[in-house]
Amino acid sequence: MPLDEARISPLDRGFLFADGVYEVIPAYAGTLFRLGEHLDRLGASLAAIELANPLSRTDWTALFNALIEQNGGGNIYIYLQVTRGAAAKRDHAFPVPPVAPTIFAMTGQIATPAADMPDTTPGVAAITLDDIRWSRCDIKSVALLANVLMRQQAVSEGASEAILIRDGFATEGSASNFFIVKQGVIVTPPKSHLILPGITRDLLVELARKHGMPVEEKEVTEAELKSADEVWISSSTREVVPVTRLNGHPLGDGRPGPVWKQMARYYVDFKRALCGL
Ligand code: PDD
Repeated sequence: MPLDEARISPLDRGFLFADGVYEVIPAYAGTLFRLGEHLDRLGASLAAIELANPLSRTDWTALFNALIEQNGGGNIYIYLQVTRGAAAKRDHAFPVPPVAPTIFAMTGQIATPAADMPDTTPGVAAITLDDIRWSRCDIKSVALLANVLMRQQAVSEGASEAILIRDGFATEGSASNFFIVKQGVIVTPPKSHLILPGITRDLLVELARKHGMPVEEKEVTEAELKSADEVWISSSTREVVPVTRLNGHPLGDGRPGPVWKQMARYYVDFKRALCGL
């Protein structure tokens, strides 16, 4: 339906409590990318907040494909949000009996990713900030206030992402995972409650292994981040983007690095093959 006809109750628990989860799923040339992995993570997020998955995998797939078709196909992403619905009164505890969950999905355009223009992209600037979030960052919760504040601080300082530091270790970006390259070895933090298990992150690790690029999943200290030869950020809408300035200083020689360029080629090849481009 047209966006301005969509209606959600002000008593929706997503609005009152941020009691819900979300997914962002890219589609290229109308083909959903890594849909199985996104549906797995949706299931894990719903289970973590004790909300029954309202649709089967088949029904989610049909819904997303219909949305893509009705929005003209092409390179778009699906934003999906599922909340615990609207109860008659505001109460922190779950409604008894449960009410119907609210499902909202829409599409948006994907801007041309950096990996598609490896020789001309300048990369992006990032800053480091204290990770002020809670300790269940593995749940793809719509409660994003800390992420919003940290991203805004990055933007206010002329950067496009904040890379977050907790107890001396870098965790992830405000809306991305990150990688460093040091002496040719690609490193990204291991999955834990402190980061979102990014679908793009997993794919990059998979591609590195497949192509024999040295890759390790291990903790990255703030000092290792700052002295890295290359830093990348990854997400479903940005794919893999080189960070070329950190806290106002150039990283490496201030240009996208050779390991990133190689990975960008593998990523684009993988995407093209999967989506029949
Ligand atoms: N964000 N970490 C955080 C905190 C994120 O919000 C995201 C993605 C990622 C990367 O995950 P993936 O590769 O599965 O997209 C990591 C989405 C894109 C968003 O909020 O718009």
